Amino acid sequence: MTDSSLLRRITDPASRADPYPLYEELRRTPVLHEEEGGAYAVSRYHDILALLHDPRISSDDRRLADRGDDELPGPEGTVLPPSFIRLDPPEHDRLRRIANSAFGPPHRPHRIDGMRGELAGIVGELLDGLASAAAGGGEIDLVDEFAYPFPVTVICRLLGVPREDEPRFRGWVDVIVAGLDPETRHDPAAPAQRAARQARVQLGMYLAGLVEERSREPRDDMLSDLVAGRGPDGAMSTMEVLSTAVLLLIAGHETTVNLITNGMLTLLRHPEHLERLREDAAYGVPVVEELLRYEPPVQLLPSRTCITDIEVHGVTIPEGARIWLMLAAGNRDPERFADPGRFDPDRPDNEHLGFGSGVHICFGAPLARLEAQIALTELARRLDGPRLLQDPPPYRLSPVLRGPRHLPLGVDGVR
Ligand code: HEM
Repeated sequence: MTDSSLLRRITDPASRADPYPLYEELRRTPVLHEEEGGAYAVSRYHDILALLHDPRISSDDRRLADRGDDELPGPEGTVLPPSFIRLDPPEHDRLRRIANSAFGPPHRPHRIDGMRGELAGIVGELLDGLASAAAGGGEIDLVDEFAYPFPVTVICRLLGVPREDEPRFRGWVDVIVAGLDPETRHDPAAPAQRAARQARVQLGMYLAGLVEERSREPRDDMLSDLVAGRGPDGAMSTMEVLSTAVLLLIAGHETTVNLITNGMLTLLRHPEHLERLREDAAYGVPVVEELLRYEPPVQLLPSRTCITDIEVHGVTIPEGARIWLMLAAGNRDPERFADPGRFDPDRPDNEHLGFGSGVHICFGAPLARLEAQIALTELARRLDGPRLLQDPPPYRLSPVLRGPRHLPLGVDGVR
């Protein structure tokens, strides 16, 4: 094969289980542009980092041909405004600051610190469920039975979705996430797409009702704080609150599922680290950081565009061109990380690109870290004799949000 088909080979589902040799090939051409009108792929660590901090690179969806995943019909057939992940400063900054003051308000401890016990409780319940299903040994699917239900339950608690509504909420989210599957995404007539559109309307209407309730009767939850907007930037409009809630949901769901699943897969492939985590819960902190470098759930950022011509490594990327920032390739750049193909939670100075960088650096990072640390530590502690039943496991199709669709494990029991 020639270089000209490299990006196609990377997006080909056949490469999903191990795209890293292709990324190595990609880094040999620091700015790869294969076809007229196609994307410019940037794959070296320092170039990616510089572009993430460059104000000439835009995240604004309206500059791009295809719209974002989190677009959602609002009440009465309206379309929600773009969420802040797809806006540039200063609009981005105002909305992110308001969201931030609802996430970690300055006048009290960070909301996420207060959720530690709650997260451990949810993980404990999911593991208890596995324990009864796998009593005396058996097979579990770590995705369906653990990693998938966990983050959506967490987002419900964060936003303040009442417990009795969680199953309905999770039902809509399942259908919406299934609709993001690249296999059917561009076919509006596909049943999965029709179902996803309907679920988006239902979720939008449900959230609009909840926003209305919280503005009348605020509670101690993030939705109430978003509606009240106590900071110097004031409040968001109802539509802005709705798009922010959906953003948290979409951005925080499959990413976290994949971090936990990629995490367990990696630990089972490197059992000495699983053993160490079982003995020492504090090891969960560097393990999760190294996972974000070694197997990042967001492999590339495909929706950046240049607002003016820019030069990278002697290549002029023209105004309006689409840029792919290949985070997972940058994370294994030998110019930045020694022995980059080695899973080594003890590596010093692990400033990976797993959460991006610059103004759009992951807003939910403190929550994602805590979720993954608790989930992996508890899995290490409570699964008895876990082993991979299929290696590599089957993967989801997306080259952007990469992770196993299922992770079948054999266990002797669940403690
Ligand atoms: C942004 C990764 C979990 C909310 C991002 C970006 C990355 C990322 C790479 C940068 C996007 C860009 O530059 O265009 C991840 C990973 C996660 C995770 C790997 C889990 C392991 C979460 C969670 C939440 C969240 C749990 C919310 C509760 C957001 C939001 C943004 C974002 C709101 C947009 C920030 C902005 O535009 O200013 N995330 N994320 N993420 N993430 Fe996460």
